[in-house]
Amino acid sequence: MAAKSQVVELANQVVTLIADLLEEWDKRPLEQPPFDSTIWSDLATQLQSSTELLTSLTTPPASFVRTLQLRHYDLVAYQIALEFDLFTAIPIGLSATLPAIANYSGLDGNRAGRTLRLLALHGIFCETEEDTFSHTPQSTLIAQNESIRSALAIQMCEMYQAASSTADAIRSSTKENKDISPFAARFGIPIYDYYQQHPEKADRFSLGMKGAMELDKDSLVDLQNSYPWTKFYGGTVVDVGGGTGHVSRFLAENLPSVFFTVQDILIPPKIENTANVEFRQHDFFQQQPSIPNAKAFLLRHVLHNYDDKDCIRIISALVPALEAQGELASPLLLINEGVVPEFGETNAHDLHLTVRRGDLCMMVTLGAQERTRKKFQSLLSAADPRLQIRGVYGSGVTRLIEVHLNNETSTASH
Ligand SMILES: C[S@@+](CC[C@H](N)C(=O)[O-])C[C@H]1O[C@@H](n2cnc3c(N)ncnc32)[C@H](O)[C@@H]1O
Repeated sequence: MAAKSQVVELANQVVTLIADLLEEWDKRPLEQPPFDSTIWSDLATQLQSSTELLTSLTTPPASFVRTLQLRHYDLVAYQIALEFDLFTAIPIGLSATLPAIANYSGLDGNRAGRTLRLLALHGIFCETEEDTFSHTPQSTLIAQNESIRSALAIQMCEMYQAASSTADAIRSSTKENKDISPFAARFGIPIYDYYQQHPEKADRFSLGMKGAMELDKDSLVDLQNSYPWTKFYGGTVVDVGGGTGHVSRFLAENLPSVFFTVQDILIPPKIENTANVEFRQHDFFQQQPSIPNAKAFLLRHVLHNYDDKDCIRIISALVPALEAQGELASPLLLINEGVVPEFGETNAHDLHLTVRRGDLCMMVTLGAQERTRKKFQSLLSAADPRLQIRGVYGSGVTRLIEVHLNNETSTASH
Protein backbone atom coordinates (compact mmCIF):
# COMPACT_ATOMS: atom_id res chain seq x y z
CA MET A 1 0.00 0.00 0.00
CA ALA A 2 2.94 2.29 0.65
CA ALA A 3 3.84 2.05 -3.04
CA LYS A 4 0.27 2.84 -4.06
CA SER A 5 0.07 5.94 -1.89
CA GLN A 6 3.47 7.00 -3.23
CA VAL A 7 2.19 6.64 -6.79
CA VAL A 8 -0.85 8.79 -5.94
CA GLU A 9 1.36 11.38 -4.26
CA LEU A 10 3.77 11.50 -7.21
CA ALA A 11 0.92 11.70 -9.73
CA ASN A 12 -0.54 14.68 -7.82
CA GLN A 13 2.90 16.30 -7.77
CA VAL A 14 3.18 15.84 -11.55
CA VAL A 15 -0.25 17.47 -12.10
CA THR A 16 0.67 20.44 -9.88
CA LEU A 17 4.09 20.85 -11.48
CA ILE A 18 2.63 20.85 -14.98
CA ALA A 19 0.06 23.48 -13.97
CA ASP A 20 2.91 25.62 -12.52
CA LEU A 21 4.99 25.16 -15.68
CA LEU A 22 2.09 26.24 -17.89
CA GLU A 23 1.52 29.29 -15.69
CA GLU A 24 5.19 30.22 -16.11
CA TRP A 25 4.94 29.70 -19.89
CA ASP A 26 1.83 31.94 -20.02
CA LYS A 27 3.91 34.83 -18.69
CA ARG A 28 5.65 34.92 -22.07
CA PRO A 29 3.74 33.98 -25.19
CA LEU A 30 6.52 31.92 -26.78
CA GLU A 31 6.35 29.01 -29.17
CA GLN A 32 9.13 27.25 -27.23
CA PRO A 33 8.97 26.90 -23.44
CA PRO A 34 10.86 29.68 -21.58
CA PHE A 35 13.96 27.52 -21.04
CA ASP A 36 15.98 30.51 -19.80
CA SER A 37 13.61 31.14 -16.84
CA THR A 38 15.06 29.87 -13.55
CA ILE A 39 11.54 29.20 -12.27
CA TRP A 40 10.94 27.04 -15.35
CA SER A 41 14.22 25.27 -14.90
CA ASP A 42 13.58 24.44 -11.19
CA LEU A 43 10.06 23.19 -11.92
CA ALA A 44 11.28 21.10 -14.87
CA THR A 45 13.97 19.47 -12.69
CA GLN A 46 11.34 18.57 -10.07
CA LEU A 47 9.04 17.23 -12.81
CA GLN A 48 11.84 15.06 -14.16
CA SER A 49 12.52 13.58 -10.69
CA SER A 50 8.82 12.93 -10.04
CA THR A 51 8.20 11.31 -13.43
CA GLU A 52 11.34 9.17 -13.17
CA LEU A 53 10.26 7.91 -9.74
CA LEU A 54 6.72 7.37 -10.94
CA THR A 55 8.01 5.39 -13.91
CA SER A 56 10.24 3.23 -11.73
CA LEU A 57 7.36 2.48 -9.33
CA THR A 58 4.90 1.56 -12.09
CA THR A 59 7.06 -0.23 -14.69
CA PRO A 60 6.85 -4.03 -14.47
CA PRO A 61 10.31 -5.42 -13.60
CA ALA A 62 10.62 -7.50 -16.80
CA SER A 63 9.83 -4.46 -18.92
CA PHE A 64 12.36 -2.40 -16.94
CA VAL A 65 15.12 -4.98 -17.57
CA ARG A 66 14.17 -5.33 -21.25
CA THR A 67 14.70 -1.59 -21.72
CA LEU A 68 17.79 -1.47 -19.54
CA GLN A 69 19.69 -4.15 -21.44
CA LEU A 70 19.58 -2.01 -24.59
CA ARG A 71 20.04 1.42 -23.05
CA HIS A 72 23.74 1.79 -23.87
CA TYR A 73 22.90 1.70 -27.59
CA ASP A 74 21.49 5.21 -27.08
CA LEU A 75 25.03 6.23 -26.14
CA VAL A 76 26.35 4.52 -29.27
CA ALA A 77 24.05 6.76 -31.33
CA TYR A 78 25.40 9.85 -29.53
CA GLN A 79 28.94 8.63 -30.17
CA ILE A 80 28.30 8.27 -33.90
CA ALA A 81 26.55 11.65 -34.09
CA LEU A 82 29.41 13.41 -32.31
CA GLU A 83 32.31 11.68 -34.06
CA PHE A 84 30.74 12.17 -37.50
CA ASP A 85 29.50 15.75 -36.99
CA LEU A 86 25.81 14.99 -37.46
CA PHE A 87 24.94 17.93 -35.21
CA THR A 88 26.55 20.48 -37.50
CA ALA A 89 25.41 18.69 -40.65
CA ILE A 90 21.91 20.12 -40.17
CA PRO A 91 21.66 23.92 -40.48
CA ILE A 92 20.04 25.61 -37.48
CA GLY A 93 16.47 26.69 -38.17
CA LEU A 94 16.39 24.74 -41.46
CA SER A 95 16.33 21.08 -42.41
CA ALA A 96 18.66 18.76 -44.31
CA THR A 97 18.04 15.66 -46.39
CA LEU A 98 19.74 12.39 -45.53
CA PRO A 99 22.00 12.44 -48.65
CA ALA A 100 23.13 15.98 -47.75
CA ILE A 101 23.81 14.94 -44.13
CA ALA A 102 25.72 11.86 -45.34
CA ASN A 103 27.74 13.96 -47.75
CA TYR A 104 28.66 16.50 -45.04
CA SER A 105 29.56 13.93 -42.40
CA GLY A 106 31.33 11.32 -44.50
CA LEU A 107 29.01 8.72 -42.96
CA ASP A 108 26.89 6.57 -45.26
CA GLY A 109 23.19 7.49 -45.47
CA ASN A 110 22.09 4.17 -44.03
CA ARG A 111 24.00 4.49 -40.75
CA ALA A 112 23.39 8.26 -40.52
CA GLY A 113 19.62 7.69 -40.85
CA ARG A 114 19.52 4.88 -38.27
CA THR A 115 21.49 7.02 -35.80
CA LEU A 116 19.36 10.13 -36.31
CA ARG A 117 16.13 8.17 -35.92
CA LEU A 118 17.17 6.67 -32.58
CA LEU A 119 18.23 10.08 -31.29
CA ALA A 120 14.96 11.62 -32.53
CA LEU A 121 13.15 9.29 -30.10
CA HIS A 122 15.02 11.09 -27.29
CA GLY A 123 14.12 14.57 -28.54
CA ILE A 124 17.47 15.08 -30.27
CA PHE A 125 16.72 15.88 -33.95
CA CYS A 126 13.33 15.50 -35.59
CA GLU A 127 12.45 13.70 -38.85
CA THR A 128 10.10 16.31 -40.34
CA GLU A 129 9.37 14.28 -43.48
CA GLU A 130 10.81 11.00 -44.68
CA ASP A 131 14.63 11.26 -44.88
CA THR A 132 14.62 14.95 -43.90
CA PHE A 133 15.83 16.07 -40.48
CA SER A 134 15.79 19.30 -38.48
CA HIS A 135 16.92 20.37 -35.02
CA THR A 136 15.07 20.42 -31.71
CA PRO A 137 15.98 22.96 -28.98
CA GLN A 138 18.25 20.29 -27.44
CA SER A 139 20.14 19.47 -30.63
CA THR A 140 20.32 23.19 -31.48
CA LEU A 141 22.26 23.89 -28.26
CA ILE A 142 24.71 21.08 -29.07
CA ALA A 143 25.05 22.19 -32.71
CA GLN A 144 25.57 25.86 -31.85
CA ASN A 145 28.12 25.54 -29.08
CA GLU A 146 31.40 23.79 -29.84
CA SER A 147 32.45 23.69 -26.17
CA ILE A 148 29.24 21.97 -25.12
CA ARG A 149 29.57 19.59 -28.09
CA SER A 150 33.10 18.76 -26.96
CA ALA A 151 31.92 18.19 -23.37
CA LEU A 152 29.46 15.60 -24.69
CA ALA A 153 31.96 14.14 -27.14
CA ILE A 154 34.62 13.36 -24.53
CA GLN A 155 32.00 11.55 -22.43
CA MET A 156 30.49 9.58 -25.31
CA CYS A 157 33.86 8.72 -26.83
CA GLU A 158 36.93 8.36 -24.53
CA MET A 159 35.03 8.13 -21.20
CA TYR A 160 32.46 5.71 -22.56
CA GLN A 161 35.26 3.51 -23.91
CA ALA A 162 36.99 3.70 -20.52
CA ALA A 163 33.73 3.00 -18.66
CA SER A 164 33.32 -0.27 -20.54
CA SER A 165 36.62 -1.45 -18.99
CA THR A 166 35.55 -0.80 -15.39
CA ALA A 167 35.05 -4.42 -14.30
CA ASP A 168 38.41 -5.41 -15.87
CA ALA A 169 40.13 -2.52 -14.10
CA ILE A 170 38.67 -3.53 -10.73
CA ARG A 171 39.83 -7.14 -11.26
CA SER A 172 43.35 -6.04 -12.26
CA SER A 173 43.51 -3.65 -9.31
CA THR A 174 42.64 -6.48 -6.92
CA LYS A 175 45.12 -8.86 -8.58
CA GLU A 176 47.98 -6.36 -8.70
CA ASN A 177 47.06 -4.79 -5.36
CA LYS A 178 47.16 -1.23 -6.73
CA ASP A 179 44.40 1.03 -7.98
CA ILE A 180 44.19 1.02 -11.78
CA SER A 181 41.59 3.42 -13.18
CA PRO A 182 39.27 2.07 -15.89
CA PHE A 183 40.69 4.80 -18.16
CA ALA A 184 44.23 3.46 -17.67
CA ALA A 185 42.97 -0.12 -18.13
CA ARG A 186 41.34 0.84 -21.45
CA PHE A 187 44.06 3.09 -22.90
CA GLY A 188 47.17 1.67 -21.19
CA ILE A 189 48.10 4.99 -19.52
CA PRO A 190 46.46 7.40 -17.04
CA ILE A 191 44.17 10.07 -18.43
CA TYR A 192 46.52 13.10 -18.33
CA ASP A 193 49.40 11.10 -19.92
CA TYR A 194 46.96 10.02 -22.63
CA TYR A 195 46.02 13.61 -23.45
CA GLN A 196 49.68 14.62 -23.47
CA GLN A 197 50.33 11.91 -26.08
CA HIS A 198 47.24 12.79 -28.18
CA PRO A 199 47.25 16.56 -28.70
CA GLU A 200 44.26 16.50 -31.08
CA LYS A 201 42.17 14.79 -28.40
CA ALA A 202 43.65 17.11 -25.74
CA ASP A 203 42.28 20.15 -27.59
CA ARG A 204 38.80 18.65 -27.56
CA PHE A 205 39.23 17.72 -23.88
CA SER A 206 40.15 21.33 -22.92
CA LEU A 207 37.25 22.69 -24.91
CA GLY A 208 35.02 20.07 -23.28
CA MET A 209 36.08 21.22 -19.80
CA LYS A 210 35.03 24.75 -20.80
CA GLY A 211 31.70 23.39 -22.06
CA ALA A 212 31.14 21.47 -18.81
CA MET A 213 31.69 24.71 -16.90
CA GLU A 214 29.19 26.54 -19.10
CA LEU A 215 26.64 23.84 -18.37
CA ASP A 216 27.40 24.14 -14.66
CA LYS A 217 27.07 27.93 -14.32
CA ASP A 218 24.42 27.51 -11.60
CA SER A 219 27.01 26.05 -9.25
CA LEU A 220 29.11 29.25 -9.53
CA VAL A 221 26.07 31.41 -8.81
CA ASP A 222 25.30 29.19 -5.79
CA LEU A 223 28.95 29.47 -4.66
CA GLN A 224 28.74 33.25 -4.83
CA ASN A 225 25.32 33.66 -3.20
CA SER A 226 25.49 31.07 -0.46
CA TYR A 227 28.69 32.20 1.26
CA PRO A 228 29.51 35.53 2.99
CA TRP A 229 32.53 36.40 0.80
CA THR A 230 32.47 40.01 2.00
CA LYS A 231 34.17 38.86 5.22
CA PHE A 232 37.37 38.67 3.16
CA TYR A 233 37.24 42.39 2.22
CA GLY A 234 40.72 43.84 2.17
CA GLY A 235 42.31 40.37 2.07
CA THR A 236 43.35 37.70 -0.42
CA VAL A 237 41.66 34.44 -1.40
CA VAL A 238 44.10 31.90 -2.87
CA ASP A 239 42.43 29.70 -5.49
CA VAL A 240 44.64 26.58 -5.29
CA GLY A 241 44.58 24.49 -8.49
CA GLY A 242 42.44 27.28 -9.93
CA GLY A 243 43.10 26.35 -13.58
CA THR A 244 42.20 29.15 -15.99
CA GLY A 245 40.96 31.27 -13.09
CA HIS A 246 37.35 31.31 -14.23
CA VAL A 247 36.03 30.81 -10.67
CA SER A 248 38.17 33.60 -9.23
CA ARG A 249 37.29 35.95 -12.09
CA PHE A 250 33.58 35.20 -11.57
CA LEU A 251 33.76 35.91 -7.81
CA ALA A 252 36.11 38.89 -8.24
CA GLU A 253 33.68 40.74 -10.47
CA ASN A 254 31.31 41.34 -7.56
CA LEU A 255 33.98 41.58 -4.89
CA PRO A 256 36.28 44.42 -5.96
CA SER A 257 37.75 44.67 -2.46
CA VAL A 258 38.88 41.05 -2.34
CA PHE A 259 42.11 40.06 -4.11
CA PHE A 260 42.31 36.63 -5.76
CA THR A 261 45.54 34.74 -6.39
CA VAL A 262 45.02 31.84 -8.81
CA GLN A 263 47.61 29.10 -8.40
CA ASP A 264 48.06 26.19 -10.76
CA ILE A 265 50.81 23.87 -11.93
CA LEU A 266 49.98 25.05 -15.46
CA ILE A 267 49.72 28.75 -16.07
CA PRO A 268 47.35 29.41 -19.00
CA PRO A 269 49.23 30.68 -22.09
CA LYS A 270 47.16 33.87 -22.26
CA ILE A 271 46.71 34.93 -18.67
CA GLU A 272 44.31 37.71 -17.93
CA ASN A 273 45.51 39.48 -14.78
CA THR A 274 42.87 42.01 -13.76
CA ALA A 275 42.82 44.62 -11.00
CA ASN A 276 42.02 42.00 -8.36
CA VAL A 277 43.02 38.65 -9.97
CA GLU A 278 46.60 37.44 -10.46
CA PHE A 279 48.13 34.11 -11.50
CA ARG A 280 51.03 32.27 -9.86
CA GLN A 281 52.54 28.92 -10.61
CA HIS A 282 52.45 26.49 -7.69
CA ASP A 283 52.44 22.71 -7.29
CA PHE A 284 49.86 21.94 -4.61
CA PHE A 285 51.82 18.89 -3.46
CA GLN A 286 54.58 21.28 -2.35
CA GLN A 287 54.32 23.36 0.82
CA GLN A 288 52.09 26.40 0.30
CA PRO A 289 54.19 29.58 0.42
CA SER A 290 53.12 32.23 2.87
CA ILE A 291 50.87 34.75 1.12
CA PRO A 292 50.61 38.14 2.80
CA ASN A 293 47.10 38.94 3.99
CA ALA A 294 45.69 35.56 2.86
CA LYS A 295 42.24 35.14 4.40
CA ALA A 296 41.28 31.87 2.71
CA PHE A 297 42.62 29.04 0.55
CA LEU A 298 40.06 27.66 -1.86
CA LEU A 299 40.29 24.10 -3.24
CA ARG A 300 37.62 23.75 -5.91
CA HIS A 301 37.15 20.49 -7.77
CA VAL A 302 40.65 19.42 -6.86
CA LEU A 303 40.26 16.75 -4.15
CA HIS A 304 37.74 14.67 -6.12
CA ASN A 305 40.51 14.02 -8.67
CA TYR A 306 42.64 12.17 -6.10
CA ASP A 307 42.62 9.12 -3.86
CA ASP A 308 42.63 9.60 -0.09
CA LYS A 309 46.42 9.40 0.24
CA ASP A 310 47.01 12.22 -2.25
CA CYS A 311 44.18 14.33 -0.78
CA ILE A 312 45.89 14.11 2.62
CA ARG A 313 49.17 15.24 0.98
CA ILE A 314 47.44 18.22 -0.70
CA ILE A 315 45.73 19.31 2.55
CA SER A 316 48.90 18.77 4.63
CA ALA A 317 50.86 21.01 2.25
CA LEU A 318 48.42 23.83 3.07
CA VAL A 319 48.60 23.52 6.86
CA PRO A 320 51.65 25.80 7.46
CA ALA A 321 49.89 28.57 5.51
CA LEU A 322 46.76 28.09 7.64
CA GLU A 323 48.65 28.77 10.88
CA ALA A 324 47.92 32.16 12.48
CA GLN A 325 50.65 34.63 11.57
CA GLY A 326 51.49 37.17 14.28
CA GLU A 327 48.40 39.23 14.99
CA LEU A 328 46.57 37.87 11.97
CA ALA A 329 43.87 35.23 12.49
CA SER A 330 44.28 31.84 10.77
CA PRO A 331 43.13 31.86 7.15
CA LEU A 332 40.25 29.52 6.38
CA LEU A 333 40.35 26.49 4.13
CA LEU A 334 37.38 26.41 1.73
CA ILE A 335 36.65 23.15 -0.09
CA ASN A 336 34.19 23.46 -2.96
CA GLU A 337 33.25 19.98 -4.15
CA GLY A 338 30.35 17.67 -4.78
CA VAL A 339 29.22 16.54 -1.32
CA VAL A 340 27.63 13.10 -1.25
CA PRO A 341 24.61 13.18 1.12
CA GLU A 342 24.91 11.01 4.24
CA PHE A 343 22.44 8.13 4.50
CA GLY A 344 18.91 9.52 4.91
CA GLU A 345 20.09 13.16 4.76
CA THR A 346 17.94 14.15 1.79
CA ASN A 347 15.53 12.47 -0.59
CA ALA A 348 16.26 14.93 -3.41
CA HIS A 349 16.38 12.35 -6.21
CA ASP A 350 18.00 14.64 -8.79
CA LEU A 351 20.78 15.65 -6.39
CA HIS A 352 21.52 12.01 -5.49
CA LEU A 353 21.62 11.01 -9.14
CA THR A 354 23.93 13.84 -10.19
CA VAL A 355 26.39 13.36 -7.35
CA ARG A 356 26.44 9.57 -7.70
CA ARG A 357 27.00 9.77 -11.46
CA GLY A 358 29.81 12.27 -10.79
CA ASP A 359 31.27 9.82 -8.27
CA LEU A 360 31.43 6.99 -10.84
CA CYS A 361 32.85 9.45 -13.39
CA MET A 362 35.73 10.02 -10.96
CA MET A 363 36.11 6.24 -10.50
CA VAL A 364 36.27 5.64 -14.27
CA THR A 365 38.50 8.52 -15.28
CA LEU A 366 40.92 8.81 -12.37
CA GLY A 367 40.28 6.01 -9.88
CA ALA A 368 39.14 8.82 -7.55
CA GLN A 369 35.82 9.68 -5.87
CA GLU A 370 33.27 12.17 -4.51
CA ARG A 371 32.95 12.24 -0.72
CA THR A 372 30.53 12.80 2.16
CA ARG A 373 31.05 15.54 4.75
CA LYS A 374 32.15 12.83 7.21
CA LYS A 375 34.72 11.54 4.73
CA PHE A 376 36.08 15.08 4.15
CA GLN A 377 36.42 15.48 7.93
CA SER A 378 38.35 12.22 8.18
CA LEU A 379 40.78 13.34 5.42
CA LEU A 380 41.20 16.71 7.17
CA SER A 381 41.82 15.06 10.55
CA ALA A 382 44.35 12.70 8.98
CA ALA A 383 46.19 15.71 7.51
CA ASP A 384 46.06 17.61 10.81
CA PRO A 385 43.83 16.88 13.84
CA ARG A 386 43.29 20.64 14.33
CA LEU A 387 41.34 20.97 11.05
CA GLN A 388 37.60 21.12 11.73
CA ILE A 389 34.64 21.57 9.37
CA ARG A 390 32.57 24.47 10.75
CA GLY A 391 29.89 24.77 8.07
CA VAL A 392 28.66 23.54 4.72
CA TYR A 393 27.15 26.19 2.43
CA GLY A 394 25.02 25.98 -0.70
CA SER A 395 22.05 23.97 -1.82
CA GLY A 396 23.24 22.15 -4.93
CA VAL A 397 25.43 19.16 -5.60
CA THR A 398 28.61 21.24 -5.32
CA ARG A 399 28.89 22.84 -1.88
CA LEU A 400 31.32 24.97 0.04
CA ILE A 401 32.86 23.38 3.12
CA GLU A 402 34.39 25.88 5.51
CA VAL A 403 37.31 24.50 7.50
CA HIS A 404 39.06 26.15 10.47
CA LEU A 405 42.44 25.33 11.89
CA ASN A 406 41.69 25.17 15.57
CA ASN A 407 44.72 26.71 17.26
CA GLU A 408 43.42 25.95 20.75
CA THR A 409 43.52 22.21 20.02
CA SER A 410 46.99 22.91 18.64
CA THR A 411 48.33 24.10 22.00
CA ALA A 412 46.55 21.30 23.81
CA SER A 413 47.73 18.52 21.53
CA HIS A 414 51.21 19.73 20.52
C1 LIG B 1 39.52 19.76 -12.18
S1 LIG B 1 40.54 21.14 -12.42
C2 LIG B 1 39.77 22.32 -11.36
C3 LIG B 1 40.05 23.71 -11.81
C4 LIG B 1 39.30 24.79 -11.02
N1 LIG B 1 39.62 24.75 -9.61
C5 LIG B 1 37.81 24.67 -11.25
O1 LIG B 1 37.07 24.50 -10.29
O2 LIG B 1 37.39 24.75 -12.39
C6 LIG B 1 42.00 20.69 -11.50
C7 LIG B 1 43.12 21.70 -11.65
O3 LIG B 1 44.24 21.24 -10.88
C8 LIG B 1 45.42 21.57 -11.60
N2 LIG B 1 46.52 20.75 -11.09
C9 LIG B 1 46.77 19.44 -11.35
N3 LIG B 1 47.86 19.05 -10.67
C10 LIG B 1 48.30 20.14 -9.97
C11 LIG B 1 49.38 20.35 -9.08
N4 LIG B 1 50.23 19.35 -8.74
N5 LIG B 1 49.53 21.56 -8.54
C12 LIG B 1 48.67 22.58 -8.85
N6 LIG B 1 47.64 22.44 -9.71
C13 LIG B 1 47.46 21.23 -10.26
C14 LIG B 1 45.04 21.29 -13.03
O4 LIG B 1 45.93 21.95 -13.93
C15 LIG B 1 43.61 21.85 -13.09
O5 LIG B 1 43.61 23.20 -13.43
